[in-house]
Amino acid sequence: MEPYRIKVVEPIPQLTRQQREEALKRVHYNLFDLRAEEVTIDLLTDSGTGALSAAQLAAGMAGDESYSGSRSFYRFHEAVTELTGYAHILPAHQGRAAERILFNTLLEPGRIVLANTHFDTTRANVELSGAEARDLPCAEARNLDSAEHFKGNIDLDALSRTLDGPDGSRVAMVVMTITNNGGGGQPVSMDNLKRTSALCRRHGVPFFLDAARFAENAWLVTRHEPEYRDRTPRQVAEEAFRLADGCMMSAKKDAIVHIGGFIGLNDPELAQRCELLLIATEGFATYGGLAGRDLDMMAQGLTEVTEPAYLAERADVAAHLAHRVRSAGVDIIEPPGMHALYLNAGRLLPHIPAHHFPGHALACQLYLEGGIRSAELGSLYLGEEDEDGNPTKSAPYELVRLALPRRVYTRSHYDHVGETLAEIAKRADSVYGFRIVEQSPILRHFRATLEPVPVHG
Ligand SMILES: Cc1ncc(COP(=O)(O)O)c(C=O)c1O
Repeated sequence: MEPYRIKVVEPIPQLTRQQREEALKRVHYNLFDLRAEEVTIDLLTDSGTGALSAAQLAAGMAGDESYSGSRSFYRFHEAVTELTGYAHILPAHQGRAAERILFNTLLEPGRIVLANTHFDTTRANVELSGAEARDLPCAEARNLDSAEHFKGNIDLDALSRTLDGPDGSRVAMVVMTITNNGGGGQPVSMDNLKRTSALCRRHGVPFFLDAARFAENAWLVTRHEPEYRDRTPRQVAEEAFRLADGCMMSAKKDAIVHIGGFIGLNDPELAQRCELLLIATEGFATYGGLAGRDLDMMAQGLTEVTEPAYLAERADVAAHLAHRVRSAGVDIIEPPGMHALYLNAGRLLPHIPAHHFPGHALACQLYLEGGIRSAELGSLYLGEEDEDGNPTKSAPYELVRLALPRRVYTRSHYDHVGETLAEIAKRADSVYGFRIVEQSPILRHFRATLEPVPVHG
């Protein structure tokens, strides 16, 4: 059961099907353009959408809004230092700001960043600095249906080969995303982290964690890695941070705050250079684009997020929804993980070809039938077309992500999601596809406008 009770509630919008149909037409079938008040269950993201605890709100009230040297900064600094062990901690307003500052300081054209899988903003920030982002996911990650526990791991052989090979001297850093959001939210084992750390040390290459979901990763390690069965998630997390030379963190996930992030570093010279860029572009080094209250709420959230009762319930909710989804006849990336379920829309809607976007079709149906907002992670997001609109590249899988906000929805909300999917699955062959009407040159899924096209099953 939930290890908390509800003190403050917010009504959720309940629209008629006709209202949702009109809303979809108005936004040209782009779910990002819906107003939140048109969405009943919002599973677009788990980022910045969690519910604050009473203790976090109280901590926020104690926030010190001094421009420099605030008490909030020192409380935040102590909490992050104790957790991570890094010598230098720089606050930033969110994860991608931390990425931009670190990469602009460390990278240059011609250099390579290796990762288990770069998250999309991480890749974008690597590329904006002129470097190359190269993914080395483990082989197990390619089988969406296998229930192996650490499909977020990096491919150690490929890592070793690259570091030893002709590109080795160009590798500027190795990043491990825990959990691996771009790879189905799968965790990384401590064994994989240790071996990666050892390889990086041997080659003198900095090793960083993209630690957005460090606590969820730690929980899954205590469940599935025998050596860690008797450790607490907090102990696992502390050890994981200490295997790396630093981290970037979007605190909007596993610090359960609405805004926030940080960089942790051991290298004093790198920290000094990052700090200058931080001051120039985010804010002074003791607030980094945040309010004092945000720093205090982050510090409190970082202690709550590793509580076993909280993590056990979060894993259980994901398992509950996974069970409902499978019972509805819809496949997911297995095993379900914790922060999101990834629906295999390509398999559910085989009559819709990739260039008519089966993932987007399922996401629109989820909204139309149940007021549920989700995120397409298929060919609308990753595909490409030539100037005449002919498809040139499709995504490897046509997925829809149902992200689970922290402490926000109950099992009955998720039952509604399962029931809606079951209804859609019953008449899957009548679901229509889509065609792009207009699109932007980059990140097209955010701004594209679309229209339905009939495709027959
Ligand atoms: C693994 C990972 N890294 C980085 C980010 C970027 O963080 P933010 O949205 O706070 O900029 C995200 C956001 O979803 C993420 O999942």
